[in-house]
Amino acid sequence: MSFSAVELIIKKRERQELTSKEINWLVENYTSGVVADEQMSALAMAILLNGMDRREIKDLTMAMIASGERLDFSGLTAPTSDKHSTGGVGDKITLPLAPLVASYGVAVPQLSGRGLGHTGGTLDKLESIPGWQATLSNTELYSQLAEIGAVICAAGTGLAPADRKLYSLRDVTGTVEAIPLIASSIMSKKIAEGTSSLVLDVKVGSGAFMKTLDTAIELAQTLVQLGKDAGVNTSALLTDMSTPLGLKIGNALEVEESVEVLQGGGPADVVELTVELAKEMLKLAGLGDVDPSENLKNGKAFDKWRQMITAQGGDPDAELPKARHSHEVLATESGFITRLDALDVGVASWRLGAGRERKEDAVQFGAGVQLHAQLGDRVKKGEPLMTLFTDTEEKFARALGLAEQAVSISEQSSGARKLILHRIS
Ligand code: URA
Repeated sequence: MSFSAVELIIKKRERQELTSKEINWLVENYTSGVVADEQMSALAMAILLNGMDRREIKDLTMAMIASGERLDFSGLTAPTSDKHSTGGVGDKITLPLAPLVASYGVAVPQLSGRGLGHTGGTLDKLESIPGWQATLSNTELYSQLAEIGAVICAAGTGLAPADRKLYSLRDVTGTVEAIPLIASSIMSKKIAEGTSSLVLDVKVGSGAFMKTLDTAIELAQTLVQLGKDAGVNTSALLTDMSTPLGLKIGNALEVEESVEVLQGGGPADVVELTVELAKEMLKLAGLGDVDPSENLKNGKAFDKWRQMITAQGGDPDAELPKARHSHEVLATESGFITRLDALDVGVASWRLGAGRERKEDAVQFGAGVQLHAQLGDRVKKGEPLMTLFTDTEEKFARALGLAEQAVSISEQSSGARKLILHRIS
């Protein structure tokens, strides 16, 4: 059956529902190049403005899955569980989480991406470990999962190619923030990846896509429903992203902090979120109520990390890259930190070289920001608040203003931060 792309764009522009056949036709023909980029851009904008109902979002997701291959881990003896975060500043949780969950006998196939914009990419972080390789064939992925139980690697180009094409288009047409498009994009890749259970970490706040709890709840409900409809046992935690996670932001810096957590230390917020997400993944995988902090303390999760890094050519004992230059930002007054803005710190880290401006740019592994205090901490005038790192000294000028404006200090404490805001299952 054939349709006219223009007629379907007009239909959505006029707030009408698209049928399953129309959605399938659009996705198939966009992937093969019959529907042009400018037509898909117009449709994406019509979807952003007028929305889609649950049935349309499900059809869009299923059509994007059908545009590529589906992995199948049903032959593994262990249950599979995965986590997806909508992205945030200092969000290195995947790094300690995958080996922690695998240390309880649950297989974690974590297919990840690179960073674009102010939120870092998991692969960029791991590539700061000398020798570590992001690309695995499907056979290598399967064997590592069977033998070690944890894999963090690049999502192959065969998974949901329609999403890959549409996502780059959305990036340059102001259509990233549409719930139907975000939900189908995330879930098409996760369902095609073949995990049997999935925990979503939906971030809320200045450093996240979703700035308010209401929009984040709407996104989380859509994601969870899509997962369940596809037979994936799915739940979501909504977590605060108004301030960075942990003290270290940047590629090698985040690996360093993840290793601290895996060795039983690390900042309390990173430990709390790692443990809460692990608990949720183990529950969905059928292990019941387990306290995952045990294997952070007894070294089992750290052993798993070493195996996982070594299997992909990395040297877990190698020294991590360090930036050539550093600059301290000092407190201008004494008092409590009442604001430490995630977006400002994320963009500062990105401008220092930790992230890329264009897809083809290389990242600086040692670049980033190390915080010396977190939201709610008391600081004294003249004490260091954070250290900025870069290989390119000229980059300090563009990052410094942001780093300074990220912090507000007041005589009155603003109370403790609530990290886990809501749960949807
Ligand atoms: N992550 C994705 O994979 N897709 C989106 O649209 C947003 C975040």
